[in-house]
Amino acid sequence: MTPLVALSAIHKRFPGVYALKGVDFDVLPGEVHALVGENGAGKSTLIKIAAGVYDCEEGQYRIAGEEVVLDGPRAALDRGIAVVYQELELVASLSVAENLFFGRLPHGRGGRVLWDELYAASAQLLAEVGLTVDPRTKVGYLGVAAQQLVEIARALSFEARMIVMDEPTSALSPREIEKLFALIARLKAKGVGLVYVSHKLDEIMALADRVTVLRDGARVACERTEDLDEERLIALMVGRELGQGFPVADRAPGARVLAVDGLTTDQVRDISFQVCAGEIVGFSGLMGAGRTELARAVMGVDRRLEGSVAVAGQRVPADAPPAARKLGLGLVPEDRRADGVFAQLSVRENSSIAALEQFCRMGHVRGGEEKQRVGALVDRLRVRTPDQEQEIAKLSGGNQQKALLARWLLKDNLKVLLVDEPTRGIDVGAKAEIYQLLNDLARDGLAVVLLSSEMPEVLGLCDRIYVMSEGRIAAVYDRSEATPEKLLASALPR
Ligand SMILES: Nc1ncnc2c1ncn2[C@@H]1O[C@H](COP(=O)(O)OP(=O)(O)OP(=O)(O)O)[C@@H](O)[C@H]1O
Ligand SMILES: [Mg+2]
Repeated sequence: MTPLVALSAIHKRFPGVYALKGVDFDVLPGEVHALVGENGAGKSTLIKIAAGVYDCEEGQYRIAGEEVVLDGPRAALDRGIAVVYQELELVASLSVAENLFFGRLPHGRGGRVLWDELYAASAQLLAEVGLTVDPRTKVGYLGVAAQQLVEIARALSFEARMIVMDEPTSALSPREIEKLFALIARLKAKGVGLVYVSHKLDEIMALADRVTVLRDGARVACERTEDLDEERLIALMVGRELGQGFPVADRAPGARVLAVDGLTTDQVRDISFQVCAGEIVGFSGLMGAGRTELARAVMGVDRRLEGSVAVAGQRVPADAPPAARKLGLGLVPEDRRADGVFAQLSVRENSSIAALEQFCRMGHVRGGEEKQRVGALVDRLRVRTPDQEQEIAKLSGGNQQKALLARWLLKDNLKVLLVDEPTRGIDVGAKAEIYQLLNDLARDGLAVVLLSSEMPEVLGLCDRIYVMSEGRIAAVYDRSEATPEKLLASALPR
């Protein structure tokens, strides 16, 4: 069978980074080909070459057996190569239909837009992906899952022969994931080739026909999924022994440091819980259950309507995050990219920006100490970068996440750390490091609150688990009694 797309001996160099070292990759009609590898392995770079974002300077690119030179993403789209990026690229203020046919609205005589035709064509595409919204709806009103489906529908409108999905399920609920998988099966049956990029290995094992593993910019394996298991896949990805995923909980709880009582905002209701120094307490639940809103309420980012928050016995004012920080509360937000990357600054500056005063003596930043502390974390979290001075925007997605995590871990006066989805977009090896780090911090006396939709990490790391559903605490389990079944049962809306 002639591959839909065949890339061979692809090389790509950025200043200081050899991102792809002679990679081969092809996609057959009707197959799901997964692309995996650690953060910075080269997955997105390879996709961007296939999608015409980067020139294919070295190597060969064939579409349906014919060698091509693409001069931009539109050229790739016209040849049926579409990418659904993780950072969705729709225009929020335009309607679904306008987004679907952006730049290609059907025109009648005199340049009049043929709205009826547009809406009819849109409705048909939306039906194909199983999305039931009016094509006149503004995209900004849609949730992430729906926006993703609009992107896929747009790909179909170009009669895409190959669709690439870069970490498509990271913000979807289990039901939405199921729907996406059903759509992928339908596309497969129509002969569309799919490239699936993800750090969720269970999804890959369930979905993919073949898996290509990149490590350090080189292809280390391309195998049929049936010849693989998760363990071997991990070994191929990381190329080193991974310790047991979760640290042994060798911590002893100390004094109570965080007390939340009857906390209520527009989004969460009547939340009460306590955390002691040395504890890791988890908040589980489905996407949209209210975890992020809870963290924001504790920090005082969202307006508190009722209830109280106290750190080490001191009341945290209702709506003053700086005061909360002064008392020793810290929050690593979920949407780290939107909430905090300074794109033009270096990795070092992005990491140390919140803790700069710690490195100051008599009004001067002590650069040596700053470098050393940032360097230690950069190593520990395996941030893949030529050096600390690299512009953060040039790091891979997962590595930017890690650099931002470092920002909050550098703070000295922390008593309570809330971390919201700390491992989203992060590879298996670095996940284990983050778990170890949270465990170490707790052992040193920090109270850690882990908000996560990933059940295994909540189960593996936390002393106590609160399950949220529809903005409330629906259940609480001790480490010894928690199981995935119980967490899921409590998480489902009543
Ligand atoms: N524009 C750029 N300038 C310099 N270096 C870059 C640029 N884009 C990517 N890189 C580097 O190329 C390497 C591969 O990055 P890429 O984004 O392809 O990784 P990835 O496999 O997609 O990782 P992740 O899982 O974190 O998304 C990384 O070391 C990254 O820092
Ligand atoms: Mg990437």
